[in-house]
Amino acid sequence: MTTMCLPPIIQGGMGAGVSCWKLAKKVSERGMLGVVSGTALDSVVARRLQDGDEGGHIRRALDNFPFKEMANRFYEKFFVENGKKLEEAYKALPMPTIKMNHNHLEALILGNFVEVFLAKEGHKGVVGINYLEKIQLPNLPSIMGAMLAGVDYVLMGAGLPTYIPGVLDGLAKWEKVSMKLHVTGPKGASASTSFDPTKILPGKLPLQRPNFLAIISSEIVAKTMIKRSSGEVNGFVVENHTAGGHNAPPRKVKGVQADAFSDKDTIKIDAIAKLGKPFWLAGKFASPEKLKEAKDQGAIGVQIGTAFAFCDQSGIPAETRKEVLDQCKAGTIKIDTDFRASPTGYPFKVVRLDDAPKAHKKRQRVCDLGYLRSIHITEDEHTLYRCASEPIDHYLKKEGEVDEVLGRQCLCNALMSLIGHPQVRDGYNEPVIITAGSDVLEVVRFLKDGDSSYSADDVIDYILGESTKK
Ligand SMILES: Cc1cc2nc3c(=O)[nH]c(=O)nc-3n(C[C@H](O)[C@H](O)[C@H](O)COP(=O)(O)O)c2cc1C
Repeated sequence: MTTMCLPPIIQGGMGAGVSCWKLAKKVSERGMLGVVSGTALDSVVARRLQDGDEGGHIRRALDNFPFKEMANRFYEKFFVENGKKLEEAYKALPMPTIKMNHNHLEALILGNFVEVFLAKEGHKGVVGINYLEKIQLPNLPSIMGAMLAGVDYVLMGAGLPTYIPGVLDGLAKWEKVSMKLHVTGPKGASASTSFDPTKILPGKLPLQRPNFLAIISSEIVAKTMIKRSSGEVNGFVVENHTAGGHNAPPRKVKGVQADAFSDKDTIKIDAIAKLGKPFWLAGKFASPEKLKEAKDQGAIGVQIGTAFAFCDQSGIPAETRKEVLDQCKAGTIKIDTDFRASPTGYPFKVVRLDDAPKAHKKRQRVCDLGYLRSIHITEDEHTLYRCASEPIDHYLKKEGEVDEVLGRQCLCNALMSLIGHPQVRDGYNEPVIITAGSDVLEVVRFLKDGDSSYSADDVIDYILGESTKK
């Protein structure tokens, strides 16, 4: 990867559906790296189809999928002309498991293909896709779908994805790829999953191996990624704990997990620069001064999330964005790092609007999307899938501990609600959770005089300064 043509701004992946194809496309057209979220794209695209596929974008993308029958099967299963009724539930996909059925693998491939295809359509800019290492089971077929659409970059954080570079090498050659899965259970318990593209796809075509950027929050993880990866790591996004979404947990102090961030969590950028790989800094870097600061430390540029999350092209619906911007102006918005909300156990940034505490109390415990389920192996070698946000009795029956469930939220359903696709159950819609970085307290700086919203162009212009405007 030559550093000459690398973009100074990466629009960070924001799952699920917040960094949608419309946002990534806009950013890529400006010569920056636009990134779609690869999280839950099987369900996101299936729900968009059930909402009537406004503009026919998904149909157009599917028409460009190289294997027509597969594309049509998916379309026919989920498309609802003019959209389903509001009070009707969405037709669901099965929850991810180690051995997924053929239709589910197809849905994962197609969902990822569609989002990348649309982001890349009609321009020559580069597009990336973001996955979370914590959501392991859908990753192999998802990456294949993104590669079939010619994705240029794969970015992955929230874990130590040492196996991904080798997976990218293998899939580019249409080889069977596998990965070890995180499991809990008796000593020695293990599980793995594999994906053979030739068993699912009815033909072969040349594929490019995307660049791989690991999202890391410490120089130790960066070094480990280089040393232990199964192939080439092409660069790093170095994300601090002010960033939106999941954050890396605070470092341990004398072997004990700290429950707040401190000076110990300051990342040694000079140590990362010495590794000789291109890198971008993330976490409150959306200004020309911070871009310069990043470059002065040897970075190619910056990765930006929050500023893009609340712009016109974001997957967050206009009314929610407006509420955030209004509360930002009024000074009533709050942001905190919730150490309990995410069933992954990772800290998760949550935006608190005036009515948010009420919404949380109304939540019913359900688990029907299952992206964040973890794998637990019993003494007698049964494989169980469980999520600390599911109904408590279900979790306890699966050998879960009661203190793991306290304060957990169903991020899968809440984030689907955030992007306007809430599941409907007996008239009950899952309440929205909004995640953002600490920068959400200052996003009104992108509003021009008298405007009530701003665009991805405004964000890019602001960060780059006047000289590089379109
Ligand atoms: C709404 C939202 C969702 C996010 N989701 C993800 C995600 O799914 N995966 C990921 O790697 N980073 C995620 N992030 C982090 C961003 O990609 C980015 O690194 C970070 O927000 C940069 O900090 P900033 O928000 O101060 O610009 C998310 C950020 C936001 C604001």
